[in-house]
Amino acid sequence: MDPLIWRVLPVLTALFAIIFLYIGRPNKSISGELSQCSLLPHDHFIIRSKRIISSDGVLDGSVEVKNGIIVSIVEGHGQALDNSPVHILDYGDAVVMPGLVDVHVHLNEPGRVEWEGFSTGTKAAAAGGVTTLIDMPLNSFPTVISEENLRLKLEAAKNKLHVDVGFWGGLVPSNAFNRSSLESLLDAGVLGLKSFMCPSGINDFPMTNVTHIKEGLHVLAKYRRPLLVHAEIQLDAEGNEDEAMSPDPTSYSTYLMTRPSSWEEAAIRELHRVAKDTKVGQRAEGASLHIVHLADSGKSLDIIKEAKESGASLSVETCPHYLAFSAEKINKGDTRFKCAPPIRDDENRKKLWQALKEGHIDMLSSDHSPSSPELKLFDQGDFLRAWGGISSLQFVLPVTWSHGKSFGITLNQLSTWWSERPARLAGLEFKGAISGGNHADIVVWDPDEEFALNEDYPSYHKHPNISPYMGMKLWGKVKATFVRGNLVFVEGKHTPAACGVTILAKK
Ligand SMILES: *[C@@H]1O[C@H](CO)[C@@H](O)[C@H](O)[C@H]1NC(C)=O
Ligand SMILES: *[C@@H]1O[C@H](CO)[C@@H](O)[C@H](O)[C@H]1NC(C)=O
Ligand SMILES: [Zn+2]
Repeated sequence: MDPLIWRVLPVLTALFAIIFLYIGRPNKSISGELSQCSLLPHDHFIIRSKRIISSDGVLDGSVEVKNGIIVSIVEGHGQALDNSPVHILDYGDAVVMPGLVDVHVHLNEPGRVEWEGFSTGTKAAAAGGVTTLIDMPLNSFPTVISEENLRLKLEAAKNKLHVDVGFWGGLVPSNAFNRSSLESLLDAGVLGLKSFMCPSGINDFPMTNVTHIKEGLHVLAKYRRPLLVHAEIQLDAEGNEDEAMSPDPTSYSTYLMTRPSSWEEAAIRELHRVAKDTKVGQRAEGASLHIVHLADSGKSLDIIKEAKESGASLSVETCPHYLAFSAEKINKGDTRFKCAPPIRDDENRKKLWQALKEGHIDMLSSDHSPSSPELKLFDQGDFLRAWGGISSLQFVLPVTWSHGKSFGITLNQLSTWWSERPARLAGLEFKGAISGGNHADIVVWDPDEEFALNEDYPSYHKHPNISPYMGMKLWGKVKATFVRGNLVFVEGKHTPAACGVTILAKK
């Protein structure tokens, strides 16, 4: 052989090796971006598990994700995928479920970041398997009651979201009769409106009466979006004849008596009348009414059933704290448990579970409503003067599961209450289910793992200590969370960048 070849061959080999290696490597700029937005350096991969919660039930199989979208769900071991070069994440027995869609969250930014904020709130959401949340128009400052104020919210949210975030606008007396004001807020992309039938506790968010609610519904009809209502009407206290006996403000029962279930019942009775407008052929056809955080499983629920049966477009949510706690067990002065409507007795709690299982309550939401610890007045333990609101966002999945287990709930029910129906309420057509074409919003969690929420447990909320769940043991640990295919959380770790997006309704 020509000796020249012996001199050229090593050079050629080295050259080919370099070319081969270069081509074989992922594109540098893409992998750089992925490492900021995702803890997984692949945009095409397969999630495998023996327990995938799909609309067709629990599957043992594979979910294929490409560029943030679920492209296929294959039952069985998907041998066809075995030989593909696509990256495989095998989660074994862990549950692979649609990410939670929490339609009732108060992140309080701008204006009250010292209570929570987009960054801490969405980090906690990601760690809890909540892949989409809808932010309430209060308690931020200013409240989202105009297009201008929504713009301030969007500006404040920039580069801070670890999950996807949509927004409800506010219906208040000052905009209820101003159609163009409401329309510009809805045109700007709020997913629906929220109003209060009692004082909200926030000065720039006054309560609405039935006339305002009817006007709001009429505007919402055109957009086919919902009106969410805090359903309590303040009634005069019943027979407080013995004024000399001043009740103990550190006793939870004192607070409970100030907001009886008759308040909820009175409000829901009025909403039943208003809801007639949403029936086919009526003035607000296309709009819907949604009752937030139902606490009373008594007469209020009977009226809701009646309204639904009559053909009104009405839905209702309850929250984990009403399903987990009962008034009898709340300790003296423990204001972490204060919220409105209040947590009622244990019999009421059991009936809420029953109503949920029977389908009379449609969905769950956190009503995560934190404040600064100072406002909780821990040193005084005064239930009447402490700020109301339960901090819970990161823990709603294990809380629902831990308490629901004894009521025999299924994983598919969890997914219906926490993902499918809330996504439908908010009009999010590509979220809320593991199904082909949907966003790859997924939570991987282990229902059989117990953990203690002690001081060492990483809570990502701004003020972990104000949550009534701290100190408890829960079942169901979140292992991984994907938002549009980005692995945004694995136990103890978030992505460096906040790549969640704002969700705005299209005109
Ligand atoms: C209605 O709201 C718009 C802002 O969207 C404002 O310019 C206008 O003055 C308001 N109209 C009335 C009658 O208050
Ligand atoms: C609601 O308040 C408005 C004023 O903002 C008033 O015009 C209307 O009559 C009130 N409706 C009811 C039912 O009280
Ligand atoms: Zn709320």
